[in-house]
Amino acid sequence: MNSIIDEIQDSLRFYKQLGCPGFDCSKDAIEIINNWEKRPALHGETLESIKKDVEKCRCCRLFQSRRNMVFGEGDPRARLMFVGEAPGPEEDDQGKPFVGPAGQLLTKIINAMHLTRTRVYLCNILKCLQPLNQNPEPDEISICYPFLKRQIRVIKPEFICALGTVAAQTLLKTKKPVSSLRGRFHDFHGIRLMPTYHPDYLLQNEDKKRAVWEDMKKLMQALERQRGNRL
Ligand code: URA
Repeated sequence: MNSIIDEIQDSLRFYKQLGCPGFDCSKDAIEIINNWEKRPALHGETLESIKKDVEKCRCCRLFQSRRNMVFGEGDPRARLMFVGEAPGPEEDDQGKPFVGPAGQLLTKIINAMHLTRTRVYLCNILKCLQPLNQNPEPDEISICYPFLKRQIRVIKPEFICALGTVAAQTLLKTKKPVSSLRGRFHDFHGIRLMPTYHPDYLLQNEDKKRAVWEDMKKLMQALERQRGNRL
């Protein structure tokens, strides 16, 4: 029940951002909210149209200090999406996700999985740099998260890898730390979600690399087993 209410609140916020003043509670509307992840993208929505909305977004303070918004990049039909926390200074400079030191480590991990950055999709909970490099504020997350949900709805990945506590807690709607969530698949609206440590954390805690590799091996096995139409 709580997750339905959260979903409704997120959706209302999202419709408000788009200029829609309300949402009726008809059977159809509730059905849309409950099954948002199974529906085709709204009105032929594409990653490009979502990107334009992020570019226009002035809903929180972060647009004022960013150099570039960092939407995400990779295969628009990726089977696997990596979701991080927020762009850092290098990402803000280049407008691309995971290009700084943590990103370089993530790229190595992806390559070790026999994948490439162009075969997966990389993005973040927040699309703008947090200037003081603090944890994202709850209002920043709740404003930005609908954009990520729209990206997920368009890409329709089979798997999501949530990198770090902020991504795992936001997607799974929990307060548990990533250390207690990692190592097993969780359900995200029918998509299998593997939380693991953030590559930034790995740069400071080399001893956690083994655990991340265990998580990535589980993802690789599941990708192999669940090989469907998409390569
Ligand atoms: N950390 C993140 O969470 N995302 C990036 O894009 C870069 C660093």
